[in-house]
Amino acid sequence: MTKLRWGVIGAGGIADRRTIPGMMLADNAELIAVMDANKEAAERVKEKYGALAAYDNEADLLARDDIDVVYIASPVFCHKPQVAAAAAAKKHILLEKPMGLTVADSEEIYEMCKKAGVKLGIGFMMRYHAYHQKMKEIIQSGQIGEIVSCRGQLTCWYPKMEGNWRQDKTKSGGGAMMDMGIHCIDLIQYITGLKAEKVFAFADNGTFGYNADDSSAVLMQMENGAKVFVDANFNIPDIAAKCFLEFYGTKGSILANGTISQVEGGTVEVIIADDSLGYDAAQNRVDNGPVKMEAELGNMYQKEIENFGKYILGEEAEIVSPEDAIFNQKIVETAYGVAETGVCTKL
Ligand SMILES: NC(=O)c1ccc[n+]([C@@H]2O[C@H](COP(=O)([O-])OP(=O)(O)OC[C@H]3O[C@@H](n4cnc5c(N)ncnc54)[C@H](O)[C@@H]3O)[C@@H](O)[C@H]2O)c1
Repeated sequence: MTKLRWGVIGAGGIADRRTIPGMMLADNAELIAVMDANKEAAERVKEKYGALAAYDNEADLLARDDIDVVYIASPVFCHKPQVAAAAAAKKHILLEKPMGLTVADSEEIYEMCKKAGVKLGIGFMMRYHAYHQKMKEIIQSGQIGEIVSCRGQLTCWYPKMEGNWRQDKTKSGGGAMMDMGIHCIDLIQYITGLKAEKVFAFADNGTFGYNADDSSAVLMQMENGAKVFVDANFNIPDIAAKCFLEFYGTKGSILANGTISQVEGGTVEVIIADDSLGYDAAQNRVDNGPVKMEAELGNMYQKEIENFGKYILGEEAEIVSPEDAIFNQKIVETAYGVAETGVCTKL
């Protein structure tokens, strides 16, 4: 098995918590070097995972000939300059979501990679969750009928922290909706195979007073007319949120609790209605009852790394394309505009 040689840029946050552990499990990956603006973090991560080198600047990491591909998991405002440097060094790039601060930035990022002839994939890793894959199969084979309504929720508790990049929209591109709602926006389109067409939204900061939304709600109308609600908050305690993901069709539903997460878990019920039944005036809701979804759960980050590796090697693989990530960003950027104007907007 060919092993791709990885470098990590921005090694101290999600990279350390989830993605490098996933890389360690991946069949086709080998960690060579890590870089973090915080030299101590870089050294700590190097020791923890047995990398060959730790750096506090990307130029030194990118100068290594023994790196084929970089995973960039730095704060969002660093994405564009670091992609530019990595593309110039002819490294393939797995870039964390959201791609850039704006749609324009994300388009530039994509262009730079195309010009340099390097491959680019984006880190919407929740697509690899085994339950999400199964939901896609069920929905796209028509088992719950025409999709008419969906809901996605992702929240956490994120109180004000001095100097935090995510709480400053000039450094993050946005708050709860850009950081977390965007996962739901991506997943719902991926699972249903439907693209959003119109957007309405609210987003503001009512609890913590920092310069990025701590509370957001987006309503989308999809290309088939289905209505989608996504709520993302930084001001709901972790324990109080269920991170619901729900799909309703003309023949049934799929109701998930806790699958939108960094860990492949949660519970899912599938309800297929008996379509021999007519309208039930008494609303007794006779149906076949919920069936618990079963699937072999794994590690989404491992699958993300393995799939991006296969894509680089020209093998059959599923990656998150820059086109999809740019469209997600367009939805969020449009939603922030709508939250200001109050005008429902066509994408
Ligand atoms: N897919 C996921 O599961 C997931 C989860 C969390 C975050 N993310 C994304 O990953 C990225 C990083 O988020 P995070 O939560 O790890 O942030 P974080 O603040 O926890 O960690 C970021 C790391 O980058 C380092 N850093 C700061 N400036 C840097 C620079 N110029 N170059 C290199 N490193 C630098 C910091 O020292 C820190 O170690 C963001 O794009 C975020 O949206 C993805």
